[in-house]
Amino acid sequence: MITRGPADWDPGALPDLSGRMYLVTGANAGLGYFASEKLAAAGAHVILSGRHPNRLAAAHDALEARVPGASVETLLLDVSNPGSIRAAAASVRGGLFSRSRLDGVLLNAGIVHTPRTRELTRDGRELVFATNALGHFVLAAELLTTLAKSAARREHSRLVWLGSVSTHLGIGEPTDFQLERRYEAWHAYVQSKLVVHALGIEADARLRAADVPVDSVVAHPGYSIGGRTEMVTGVNEPSRWKRLRDGVQPWAQSKKRGADALVRALTDPDVRGGEYWGPKFWTQGRTVRQRPSRWAADRDVRTRVWEECERLTGTEWPFARAARAAR
Ligand SMILES: NC(=O)c1ccc[n+]([C@@H]2O[C@H](COP(=O)([O-])OP(=O)(O)OC[C@H]3O[C@@H](n4cnc5c(N)ncnc54)[C@H](OP(=O)(O)O)[C@@H]3O)[C@@H](O)[C@H]2O)c1
Repeated sequence: MITRGPADWDPGALPDLSGRMYLVTGANAGLGYFASEKLAAAGAHVILSGRHPNRLAAAHDALEARVPGASVETLLLDVSNPGSIRAAAASVRGGLFSRSRLDGVLLNAGIVHTPRTRELTRDGRELVFATNALGHFVLAAELLTTLAKSAARREHSRLVWLGSVSTHLGIGEPTDFQLERRYEAWHAYVQSKLVVHALGIEADARLRAADVPVDSVVAHPGYSIGGRTEMVTGVNEPSRWKRLRDGVQPWAQSKKRGADALVRALTDPDVRGGEYWGPKFWTQGRTVRQRPSRWAADRDVRTRVWEECERLTGTEWPFARAARAAR
């Protein structure tokens, strides 16, 4: 099931990332916050994005306090809202941040505790699918040219998508994308992650075919929970009950540890586009390369997923423009 990756990657001693800029979605909490902390501690400039100004401000304050000298800015971005995505991407493209390059985007934001009944976004998309998959499909398209331009002067830039071990648990091929026929909370989550996994791998195939110097990688954090994660004011403040409940799940790991896989996928030069990375023992452990889940490995399924996301968002990735921008 699992293949080995280079063993010498040390999440505690990342390469020097000074001069690089990364954008992280859903950076005010959980894995997104801890990944941002690790990137900033290695010297990268990090744009923390999130949908709520107060939560973003709290994460910004916490990060600056925990990583002295960190270089971070914030960006309001609700990934379930196409208008918010386009506005946020325009700010990045327009150079409103202190660096004009963009070395990678961590497409992390997501609904993990999905609603019990089907909910829709304002533009009529099923909420979990729209947040976890469609929003990132649009964001990546909006930022592709900027990523490609930054890559032209150095190595490939990167997109990292958030998969999940749950996609190995026997769910069928995604067909009812909007869950109009039957909605079930767990199924909504797993299907959205399956779509994300397929998009991440298909994006890489299309980027290679179009000669765009951007790699697309999928990573998953195993099973990473807040009650096993250190307390960070305004970011991770689990109740005593949650700590107790999470503490009796020895197969789980902290969100800080779970973020290692995401950061490796984003920054390790040995990681290649189209690969899938996660913890060695599925739910926890050091980060290794893994086999994609069954449907994500199927070219026909990936093509259908891609075309459905294009249709539902009215978005086509600007491959030709990105390739030209990189030259
Ligand atoms: N934890 C795990 O074991 C696990 C396993 C597999 C995959 N993952 C994936 O890892 C990612 C992060 O999970 P997590 O455990 O860190 O979850 P989390 O602690 O619940 O954090 C989720 C983050 O996403 C943000 N978010 C949710 N909806 C958003 C929207 N519409 N626009 C912008 N941001 C939004 C949240 O912001 P608010 O604070 O504003 O809600 C929060 O910052 C998800 O994609 C998840 O599917 C997690």
